[in-house]
Amino acid sequence: MIRHREECGGNPYFKFTSVVAYMALTGCGGPQSALDPAGPGAAPIAWIWWVMFWGGLLVLAGMTALGLYAVLRRRPERRGRAAEKFFLLGGGLLFPLAVLAALLFYGIRSGDALIAFPSEKKILRIELRAHQWWWEFRYPDGSNGYLYSANELRLPAGRPVDIRVSSGDVIHSFWLPRLGGKLDAIPGHVNVLRLQADRPGEFYGQCAEFCGAQHARMLLYAQAHDEAGFRNYLDILRGAGGGPPAPSPGQALFDGQCASCHSLDPRRRSNEPGPNLADLRQRKRLGAGTLANNRANLARWIAGHQTLKPGNRMPENTLRPDEIEALVDYLWRTK
Ligand code: CUA
Repeated sequence: MIRHREECGGNPYFKFTSVVAYMALTGCGGPQSALDPAGPGAAPIAWIWWVMFWGGLLVLAGMTALGLYAVLRRRPERRGRAAEKFFLLGGGLLFPLAVLAALLFYGIRSGDALIAFPSEKKILRIELRAHQWWWEFRYPDGSNGYLYSANELRLPAGRPVDIRVSSGDVIHSFWLPRLGGKLDAIPGHVNVLRLQADRPGEFYGQCAEFCGAQHARMLLYAQAHDEAGFRNYLDILRGAGGGPPAPSPGQALFDGQCASCHSLDPRRRSNEPGPNLADLRQRKRLGAGTLANNRANLARWIAGHQTLKPGNRMPENTLRPDEIEALVDYLWRTK
C-alpha cells in the first residue's frame, strides 16, 4: 500500500494527493491500476477519476462548511428571505447544474479518446473472443488468414491497436486497466476498443464481468513489444505447433483425446470450447492464470485441472500417469 507514492511518479500533484487521501489511494499503483496509465487510452480515464475525486472533495468541503455555519450561527433572525432564496436557488439548483454540466462535458470529451473512430492510418486489428473461462486472440496474418493464440495478448508499442471484442458464450468484460477502458464481450456482437501502450512492457487485466464459477480465474496477460519484437512474436506463432518428426504415443493420445477441442495449428481455430495450443510452450501461464507454465505444471494441470479450476469445460482427466507423461512430452516438444 505504501508503494503507491513511488509508482505514481514524481509529480508533486500525485504526491500531495497521496498524503491527503491516503486511504482512498490503495489502488494507485501496481500492475492493474487504472490510476497508473501507460497509454493514451487509459490516461483520460485516470484524469476523469482525479477530476471527480477533487471535485467531490471540494463539494464535500463546501457542504460541510455550510452545515457548520447553519449549526453554529448565532442570530438566524438577521438573515432574511433573500439569503434563503440565494441558498435554495444558488446552492440547490444552479451549483449542482453547473458542476454536473462541467463534468458531463469533460467526461464526453475524454471519452472520445477511447472510441475506435475509423482512421486513415493502417490500424492493427486483433480479434478477441472471450470464453468460459479464457481468452482467445486472433491476429491477422497478411493474406494468409489468421493466427490464433490464447490468454496472452501481444501488441506493438507506440501505435494504436483496435481490439475487436466478442464472446463465445456468456457476457464477459475485457479490461487492461493500464492501457484502456473496460469493454463488455457480448455473444453475437463485436465491440471495438482502441488501445495503445506507449512503451514496451507487461500488463495485466481481468475479466471484469461475473461470468460463472471461474470468473476469478480469467487472467489477461498482455505484452507490448517494439516493432521488431512484435514481428518476431508473430513469426514464432506462425511457425509454432510443428510436432515431433515421428509419430509418438503422445501424438496418438493427443489426436484421440484432445484434438476434437484443441488445435495445434496456429492457423486453425480450435473447436469450441478449447483454446489453440500451438504456442503453448511460449506462454507464461496455464489455465488462464491458474499455474505458471512449465513442464511439471502442465502434467499437474492435465491430471488435476478439475481440482485446480473446478467447472472448466475440459472433461475430467481419464489418462494414466504414464499417458500424461507421454502427452506432456508431445506438447512440450511442440515449438
Ligand atoms: Cu469472464 Cu468474468
